[in-house]
Amino acid sequence: MSLSYGDPNYILSLNETPLGWSGNYDRSKSMKGIKTDPKLSLIVEKQTNSRLHIQIFNPDAQYIEIPNVIQAQPSSQTTTSPLYSVSFPDNGIVVTRSKGNDVIFDTSKHLDQLLSRENFVQLKTSINKNPIIYGLGERRTRLALPYPQEYNFIPTDTQTPPDGLPLYGSHPFHIEVAPSGECHGILFLNTYPMQVSLENGSLTYRSMGGKLDIYIFMGPTQKDVMTQYTDLIGRPCLVPSWSMGFHHCRWGYRSLTEVETRYEDHKKAGIPVDCMWFDIDYMDNFKIFTTNPYKFPEDKMNAFFTRLASEGVSSVAIIDPQMSGNGKPGGYHAHEALLESGAYLRHPTEDKPFVGKAWPRECIYPDFTNPASQAVWSSLMKDFLGRVNLTGIWLDMNEPTCFPETSQPKHPTFPWTPGDIKTNNIPMSVRAHCGTHLAAKSLYGKTMSDVTVQSLLDARPGIRPFVLTRSSFIGSGHTHAKWLGDNHSEWPDLVDSISGVVTMGLFGITIIGADIGGFLGNTTPEMMTRWLELGVFLYPFLRNHNHHDGTEQALPAFRGPEAAIIKRYAFVRQYIQSYMYTQMHFAHQTGIPIVRSLSMEFPADAATRTIDTQAMLGDALLVTPVIAEKAVNVTGHFPNCRWYDFWSFEEDLAVSKKGTSVLLDAPLDHIPVHIRGGTVVTLQSQTASTLNGMRASPLTVVCALDEKSAAKGFAILDDGISTNDTAFTRLDFEATSSSFAINVTRNNFQTDQQMEKLVITGLARAAVTRVRLNAFGHSFTWSYHAEKGILTIKFDNPVKLVDGIN
Ligand code: NOJ
Repeated sequence: MSLSYGDPNYILSLNETPLGWSGNYDRSKSMKGIKTDPKLSLIVEKQTNSRLHIQIFNPDAQYIEIPNVIQAQPSSQTTTSPLYSVSFPDNGIVVTRSKGNDVIFDTSKHLDQLLSRENFVQLKTSINKNPIIYGLGERRTRLALPYPQEYNFIPTDTQTPPDGLPLYGSHPFHIEVAPSGECHGILFLNTYPMQVSLENGSLTYRSMGGKLDIYIFMGPTQKDVMTQYTDLIGRPCLVPSWSMGFHHCRWGYRSLTEVETRYEDHKKAGIPVDCMWFDIDYMDNFKIFTTNPYKFPEDKMNAFFTRLASEGVSSVAIIDPQMSGNGKPGGYHAHEALLESGAYLRHPTEDKPFVGKAWPRECIYPDFTNPASQAVWSSLMKDFLGRVNLTGIWLDMNEPTCFPETSQPKHPTFPWTPGDIKTNNIPMSVRAHCGTHLAAKSLYGKTMSDVTVQSLLDARPGIRPFVLTRSSFIGSGHTHAKWLGDNHSEWPDLVDSISGVVTMGLFGITIIGADIGGFLGNTTPEMMTRWLELGVFLYPFLRNHNHHDGTEQALPAFRGPEAAIIKRYAFVRQYIQSYMYTQMHFAHQTGIPIVRSLSMEFPADAATRTIDTQAMLGDALLVTPVIAEKAVNVTGHFPNCRWYDFWSFEEDLAVSKKGTSVLLDAPLDHIPVHIRGGTVVTLQSQTASTLNGMRASPLTVVCALDEKSAAKGFAILDDGISTNDTAFTRLDFEATSSSFAINVTRNNFQTDQQMEKLVITGLARAAVTRVRLNAFGHSFTWSYHAEKGILTIKFDNPVKLVDGIN
């Protein structure tokens, strides 16, 4: 039931505080049919010039403490020149942009919709008319979210449900692009199953509990929002450099020998592989922290990992949270250790563990919100890594999945739920340390990942941990990586992965990718080729993975005409490594994701705002993948600036300075990629069988001049593995039509990184007559292609970049 405007449930009284206001919402009168708490507290804090925090809650209620999500220190100082102003007309809360008066948030016309009672809170705000909205995940949908639509949030183990339904993670954050192009972000910090109802001109938050806890980030650009948002929830983590290489995985390998054979196949075919993965097949009856003594014997596994490590290849194995409860007493060490720690999910009413069902059949669940879980998990992990020397850990089924079984306690019923909250789920009345499962479920994947990351750090101090998770929550990207889950070997899945990766970047999760080739079903040589081309440029996490029912899709399995193309693109990943790694480090410093929408890079070009079949890698590379079967060309939008063909470095006059959509040639062996004028890209000039082996190879520095004949860019160099994120060297490159310079703007990492070649493209098509190098006796040859405007300088001996060359 809703009341008409002007008949608010609540009357507001307010006091000023050092950071803003605090006050009370009192129910004005008793309204038949409306159940809501009689009194609510309001706290509004101007936390920074770009961040406002609004909380509405029942002062008498007990709320879950959300662990480890907010990374920003509490503000103590008043803001000096906020980008917003706040007012309270008609008992509502109105936030406007200081400059221009654009209304960002306005509850004043919807006070009848402010409700708070057990298992239901609701708040409605006006938003711009016809805005572009990104975010509100995890789900499979277009980048610009369709509306009117109700978006539900509850981490769910599901295999690509229809568009819009909730997937594995919960990220109630969105960015709104106003018609003016100015952006802001809003986070609804709430762990309960919830819903965001998006209409043209309004947005309603509904949740099954918790506070109405809202953060507003003022932008005004998307990049600003990303920095402001990750100021609060933590910057994306640094991952080890090897993890940005090529990963091979499959569910259904019947023995270690099969995995070893697959590895040999890659080697024989000369296809680089950086990491071999182990799915649940390796476990003994799906018991975590064990290996199957016959098919995956521990000593042989360990020997394989040691061999891989000696060849520069990493190893990752899966660990699910569900811990088998089938073992005989004294028979399963992990189960006993967990029981002893007390850090498990508990039966709703009885003092015993909740027993659910998953791969190991009957199982119990660690409770990672319980501080005692860290010690037991660290010790189990240390023991496991002592036996099998894995490099990284893959966490799956951590929504967490629970297959139904009649012996389980009944799912409680609620008057309102955001869609289906029962399927494959633990009953919401099960108890965790921090509250009921209803309150804690969304946190499961993140807390499991955080505890696992800390366990790896405990076992290997100083080494960057690599943990991949399926379920995620606000702030996940601060400590771990994620993949987009069970996709299908279908073209629409390839298409949707682009929005998936870009949207995850907005949630602060930038180490993200989809299973290339598709997980369910059978891929085709053509699809695998196209998927690899796309993934090489647009998946910071690049893994080939498929289901045991599908045909083998390891890259060496493709023998036809596609084989050579596939092999070539696996090496292209190495070619762009320096640039991609630099973007990863930059994301860690700024929160700006590695893979970005065109609209993030070209905010003034309104036509980019709904584009989600192309994306940018960093600020320099525009990737236009082929997304349809048998297509040999593809249409891409090119914002109005100079563009260069990535493969030849030549200005692409068909798209340069056009600002329109253009049909591009794209035969199977070609993915159109363009370098944006005004940028510098560093490319690796040699390849090797692994990224680890190739990392030190000299660079080719490509400067693509803009309309003003200038280009700028940078490279970040570090050891790729240690946790110290200040030990890096940043080189800034600057080129004009007559000069090139490198500035070492930060020099905390001693590097021998060399440059072999320097390319300046986009020069006026007139002759270059002289090339002079103001640096200590490096001999070089140069050539100038007058027709193409490309100057290439090749050093006789690669030169050290930190020596400085002017
Ligand atoms: C579900 C995961 O999404 C998938 O990647 C994995 O192969 C299976 N579980 C088996 O572990």
